[in-house]
Amino acid sequence: MDARSGFIVVLCLMGFTCAVPVKYIDCGSASGKVTMVDISPCDSQPCKLHRGQSSSVNVTFTSDVESQTSTAVVHGIIAGLPVPFAIPNADGCKSGIQCPIHKPQVYHYATELPVKSEYPTIKLVVEWELKDDKKNDLFCVKFPVQIV
Ligand SMILES: *[C@@H]1O[C@H](CO)[C@@H](O)[C@H](O)[C@H]1NC(C)=O
Repeated sequence: MDARSGFIVVLCLMGFTCAVPVKYIDCGSASGKVTMVDISPCDSQPCKLHRGQSSSVNVTFTSDVESQTSTAVVHGIIAGLPVPFAIPNADGCKSGIQCPIHKPQVYHYATELPVKSEYPTIKLVVEWELKDDKKNDLFCVKFPVQIV
């Protein structure tokens, strides 16, 4: 654990609301580079997503391309199978990103992930992609979550 995450953990233990940088896997960000994935609330990893609540997802990335649009595609990987996951607004340009997207600029993609109360309490891997005009991934990240 580096000094920064140590400091964040201390703040979290003191009861501050906090977002811990999430451990993620880059699943092929072809037209960008991810530097950070934040999920809030997330006080332990894998992040616990509480049913009936919303979690905020904040992905920091640098674009390697120019793009007019950005579209999010989310899957939950359950027992090895990707299941499409509906998010309220798939338009990245309405999720914290000011479009058109320019290179080499840093962007924060931020959105809410509603966790429905009817979801089963399972562990799964979330795969989150943000596609550019040419349907290439500005980012593709995978992170494990636990629905509680
Ligand atoms: C996303 O994270 C960045 C970097 O920590 C921060 O500057 C930005 O305000 C966050 N955006 C939202 C909507 O939380």
